Amino acid sequence: MAESPRFRAPAATQDILPPESARWEALLARFAQQMADAGYGLLQSPMFEELGVFQRVGEGTDVVRKEMYEFTDRGGRQMALRPEGTASVVRAFNQHRPATPWKVWYAAPSFRYERKQAGRYRQHHQLGIEALGSDDPDLDVEVIVLLADFYRSLGLQRVELSINSMGAPGDRAAYVDDLRSWLHHREDQLDPADREKVDDNPMRVLDSKREQTRAAVADAPRIVDALSADAADRFRRVREGLDAADVAYRVDPGLVRGLDYYTHTTFEFAGLALESAQNALGGGGRYDGLAEALGGPATPGIGFGSGIERTLLACDAEGVFGAPDRAPDVFIVDVAGGAWARDLTVQLRRAGISADRAFDGRSMRSQMKLADRSGSRWAIIVGEDEVAAGQVSVRDMHAPDGDQQRIDRNALIDHLESRA
Ligand code: HAM
Repeated sequence: MAESPRFRAPAATQDILPPESARWEALLARFAQQMADAGYGLLQSPMFEELGVFQRVGEGTDVVRKEMYEFTDRGGRQMALRPEGTASVVRAFNQHRPATPWKVWYAAPSFRYERKQAGRYRQHHQLGIEALGSDDPDLDVEVIVLLADFYRSLGLQRVELSINSMGAPGDRAAYVDDLRSWLHHREDQLDPADREKVDDNPMRVLDSKREQTRAAVADAPRIVDALSADAADRFRRVREGLDAADVAYRVDPGLVRGLDYYTHTTFEFAGLALESAQNALGGGGRYDGLAEALGGPATPGIGFGSGIERTLLACDAEGVFGAPDRAPDVFIVDVAGGAWARDLTVQLRRAGISADRAFDGRSMRSQMKLADRSGSRWAIIVGEDEVAAGQVSVRDMHAPDGDQQRIDRNALIDHLESRA
């Protein structure tokens, strides 16, 4: 048995190796294409920011209070690794003031010091979009439908969308006050572990998974009933748009997302094929006050973040979106010293034919094994005879009888192109 190594990846992080990593590439490429087609451009932003940027996203939330990777840099500045994507995007918006609507997508490693649990990582990766500068509820529809269609394009079927509205910032603040006092009157009926949330973040009590709390809050006031006429209208327009796009959803007044900045529409997609409690594949919503809270101009915004790890776990559970075929077109087996393998791979690759080869002067048998393992269609065999004749043997690895023919080395590229 191999000795266990001195160093391992940190707890609740993972290495993604080939061929699994090819799925990540394919997922990213799919996402990039779909978002580009809808007018979203890539935003690359730093993986760390001044601590204050993230503190604004939720002083009352676990993500900020308990899970942030904070550090002091060598210049004495208080910094933090990004726990989520939205705050950085809004910070970049405030800094550069691009023309609106500003529509961007990102693929971002995010860091949260969470308890180890299936589907929960300390470094996870989000594919996300953010659209700033419009409060049109049809933009909410665009954002939600893009995520629904992304999941659909992967082949996922057992995905359930929940939506809710938090109302305008004023609606939310008034509701939170009402809810807090309602909960204070029933504090002794709540599970003790949920009591501390009543003051800090009463809406989080509503999505507690603890039985005792769930029973106690069953008839708590609901934010959807406390919406102003304007907020209710906007929510209606969003539902109408989802209906028209044929995206099924459930209105869930108990949907409270884990970040503080939400106003109006919030949503979350659950992967029903996932057994773990951590079955949220992606979610998001509006954050019309965030740009201002971060010191910029008042600018509405909406977006989503979708976890790559959980999305791929859901794909596994549904048996869809497997690893793409990454076999090279040819594998060169050179038992005549290796110079032809060295030079042919360069020529073939430059001609757009993907090629791989063996190194270290391995035996014929061992090189043929590698050729087989590579999954390539063609093995190009170079032996002393071939070199002497200025030829190569081309073997069709997919033919049952290992069909093989000799051709001139100089005719190889034309030959392969004609058989492609
Ligand atoms: P979030 O719901 O905290 O939202 O995270 C988005 C997604 O990231 C989750 O649905 C989940 O798939 C994944 N995720 C979060 N934490 C973990 C973890 N510890 N391990 C594995 N996956 C995880 C946000 O972060 C918001 N920024 C979304 C947003 C964008 N709202 C508006 N715009």
